[in-house]
Amino acid sequence: MQVVKKIDELRNIIKQEKIKGNKIGFVPTMGYLHDGHLSLIKKSKEDNDVTVCSIFVNPTQFGPGEDLDKYPRDIERDMKLLKENKCDILFYPDVKEMYPNGFYTKVTLSILTDKLCGKSRPGHFDGVATVVTKLINIVNPDSAYFGMKDYQQLLVIKRVVEDLNLDVNIVGCPIVRENDGLAMSSRNVYLTEKERESALSLSKSFKLVSQLIEKGIKNPQEIKQEVCKFIETHPFTKIDYVELVDIDTLENLNELKDKFLLALAVFVGKARLIDNKIFEIK
Ligand code: PAF
Repeated sequence: MQVVKKIDELRNIIKQEKIKGNKIGFVPTMGYLHDGHLSLIKKSKEDNDVTVCSIFVNPTQFGPGEDLDKYPRDIERDMKLLKENKCDILFYPDVKEMYPNGFYTKVTLSILTDKLCGKSRPGHFDGVATVVTKLINIVNPDSAYFGMKDYQQLLVIKRVVEDLNLDVNIVGCPIVRENDGLAMSSRNVYLTEKERESALSLSKSFKLVSQLIEKGIKNPQEIKQEVCKFIETHPFTKIDYVELVDIDTLENLNELKDKFLLALAVFVGKARLIDNKIFEIK
């Protein structure tokens, strides 16, 4: 695996690969890799000739008081995992390389980003949209791979790519879970053993929602209340949001029909965990 820290060097390598007619797949990450990230590498390898993974803890997507400094980092372990999974190129720039002139230009959306995580993390999606646009411009991949755990992020990135005519195919990949249902996340490392038990309330609430739908309940408020009650019975939990929303616009729904997204963000101890599931009413 080639480890590249400089933008110009990466651009040259990619140019050569494209001359050879090779297809480039790209997996942007903030590191501390888990099986969710590795599933994206696997998919990129299936679809492309060359897979590039980036590891960059992007400061512009963290708000004041968030976990930028504490965000888990272990580059040696990540490189080992990437090599084992036959990633071809690791792009590992530092902050100066990515933002040499500071943060003067932003990609800002006027839809999608004021909802769900955008409400509780103002500016977060501007940071994500900006860095992903920069990374796509640098790597110039044929396809880029994102996990559906960050469902809102995936919609935001698809919107940016369409609106700015970025020449890349965005691929959303399924959430990877631990055997007990906990969605994989780099932030799971913050959980103590007891908190981890409570963290299962997020994925367990999906079963509750299915049961309520089977009973014929179609009022989103009623379901939301039941889910909140359920999660709150677990110690160490503090709900940020529980929302039932349209799968494309993320708008709140008055009545549940066809498909909808249940989106959750819950603090468990110090970790802010997110999870989601699409439900379909037959
Ligand atoms: O999902 C992430 O890890 C980050 O938000 C991303 C897409 C790498 C941008 O920094």
